[in-house]
Amino acid sequence: MRGGSVDPAQRDAVERYVKEQMAKLGLHGLPHVKRVQRLCMWLSKRVKGVDLMVVDLAALLHDVGKYVEKDNDELDHGKVSADMAEVFLKSVGFDEARLDAVCHAIRVHTHGEPPRSVEAKILHDADVLDKMGAIGIATLFIKACLIDTTIEDAVGFWRSPSRDTFVGLHALWVQKPHFYTRPAGNLAKRRNDLVYAFFKQLEQELELKDT
Ligand SMILES: [Fe+2]
Ligand SMILES: [Fe+2]
Repeated sequence: MRGGSVDPAQRDAVERYVKEQMAKLGLHGLPHVKRVQRLCMWLSKRVKGVDLMVVDLAALLHDVGKYVEKDNDELDHGKVSADMAEVFLKSVGFDEARLDAVCHAIRVHTHGEPPRSVEAKILHDADVLDKMGAIGIATLFIKACLIDTTIEDAVGFWRSPSRDTFVGLHALWVQKPHFYTRPAGNLAKRRNDLVYAFFKQLEQELELKDT
């Protein structure tokens, strides 16, 4: 791991800014960011040559522009968040030498251009990992509520995942995840055993095959 640490006043300012922006997404914005940040730290201990300061700031800021997609789904929130992060970090006097590295990781986390740095790979993988396992199941059903989907319909989306709806897309992410780092892939496998078992049980209960 490489590093140095951010000036505490700058980091406090980043935390406040992230809180403000994530509140625009509602209840589930900030907790996701915190989970991704913890996963990033976990991955950073298992992958060589990571600049911790870059990963920390990229994790915190990676979804600050996500709210714009609520009104315009043509926009890519990775690009929007990277642009917002750049403006904000410059405004608090953040080290210019690391600015590009932070913004690159944020820009590419939405499956656009391939990540060029280990920090960008880690952020991508942490973000995908937060869609897996028990958290993934919980998130999938929260999304199902948002689009008035029944439990039965959610099972249908699990059986035939597609990009057509939030829920189908989440099922696709769980069933066909892509990771750049081995520790992320291994953790996803462990977490997803539960998801497959859960949906199997759910299907059985809905068809009364468990009786
Ligand atoms: Fe994102
Ligand atoms: Fe995210």
